[in-house]
Amino acid sequence: MTQSKKIVFALPKGRLAKEVKPLLTAAGLEPEAAFFDDSDRRLRFATSNPNVDLIPVKPFDVATFVAHGGADLGIVGADVLFEFAYSEVYSPVDLNIGHCRLSVAGEPQTLADNPLDQMSHLKVATKYPGVATRYFAQLGLQTECIKLNGSIELAPKLGLCTRIVDIVTTGNTLKANGLVEEAVIHQATSRLIVNRTALKTRSAELRGWIDTFDTLAKAQNP
Ligand code: PRP
Repeated sequence: MTQSKKIVFALPKGRLAKEVKPLLTAAGLEPEAAFFDDSDRRLRFATSNPNVDLIPVKPFDVATFVAHGGADLGIVGADVLFEFAYSEVYSPVDLNIGHCRLSVAGEPQTLADNPLDQMSHLKVATKYPGVATRYFAQLGLQTECIKLNGSIELAPKLGLCTRIVDIVTTGNTLKANGLVEEAVIHQATSRLIVNRTALKTRSAELRGWIDTFDTLAKAQNP
């Protein structure tokens, strides 16, 4: 009998990783030691479950790997799903971790001097051009998005834009950079996501993982 292909599970690197770790342990997916070794250059790691491998990738890339079938399962913030809206990605479980919001922010004086209801066009610095464009379009505004990959809060002070659209968790980064929130576009938590084709071809296995993570999320946050 040939061994079936391993399940590939994409996980977000960075701040979400800490919250994901206890879920993996509870699901019986203890990563091999090399996973925690920053000097190890491998990109795919075995787990205590012989049928599942982990690929730690940038948060935005979790959705891309799952959408294109490179990974069967993933954990990703809903903020990323709002941005991409991949039709191949099914997101059945709210893991109730990674609570944050996608907000519009800017310098208080600039916001006061440039009220949205008196503008027809604005410049926005963001990692989320899709979300930002849709949000301002719905307010009747045309948006020129300046795509940044981090340190977005620098952009208003340095004259790139009047507003930013970014993730806010504690609000500390906004505060430390003299910015205030103007509006909340979406609340977001992290989701378990599944590739829709894999869900058809490996239904029993993947539905098993969906049930496992659903139970864990509910047990953590009854
Ligand atoms: C995110 C986001 C904000 C910050 C918000 O950045 O882009 O800058 O977190 O968190 P807070 O409200 O708790 O301060 P991240 O730390 O992921 O780094 P980045 O600037 O590289 O995106």
